[in-house]
Amino acid sequence: MQRDMILAKLGGIMPPSRLEHTLGVEISALSIAQVVGEDADTVALAALLHDCAKCLSMPDMLRLIDGGGMPIDRITRDNRSLLHAPAGAVLARDEYNVTDPRIIEAIRWHTTGRANIGRLGALIYLADVVEPYREDYPGLGAVRDSMGGDLNHALLLAVRDTIEYVRGRQKPIHPDSLALRDWLEAGGRPFDGQIME
Ligand SMILES: [Fe+2]
Ligand SMILES: [Fe+2]
Repeated sequence: MQRDMILAKLGGIMPPSRLEHTLGVEISALSIAQVVGEDADTVALAALLHDCAKCLSMPDMLRLIDGGGMPIDRITRDNRSLLHAPAGAVLARDEYNVTDPRIIEAIRWHTTGRANIGRLGALIYLADVVEPYREDYPGLGAVRDSMGGDLNHALLLAVRDTIEYVRGRQKPIHPDSLALRDWLEAGGRPFDGQIME
């Protein structure tokens, strides 16, 4: 689907603030793409669609996930802020006709991350955090500052922030987020060309 058609569709289902965030993620994702040599069209599509299910009701997200054959764990099933990632992956595939499995994977894992995350997934995760319209939080400046250096380190800072944020809200921390942090701390480098299995 063409960018203007996607934006028209998203504009009909998202409040302006969510659309603005989406466009911010596209901007950040494209600038990271230039640095790491990722295909711009692929990155733009993943960025535009990463939150495409964000504004659905929880029952609608669950219907999409279960009907679309997308396996999810118990923590995700019970967590509204995590569900839009697997639901969005199904929606991207079935309603926006995305066929590139890397884009589907990037959308699927953009909330929790996971160990061995691929370059596109890492790129969308990071763009989601540093996009220019995101409301400031303690730590965001450090992530943005590190964008000019090692992107793997910037990603690690972003993941640590997410874990602290969830911990502060007394919500269960998803094991995949901890696994991503541990993998990066152990030397995992998604921006150096590894491909997600
Ligand atoms: Fe999201
Ligand atoms: Fe997002």
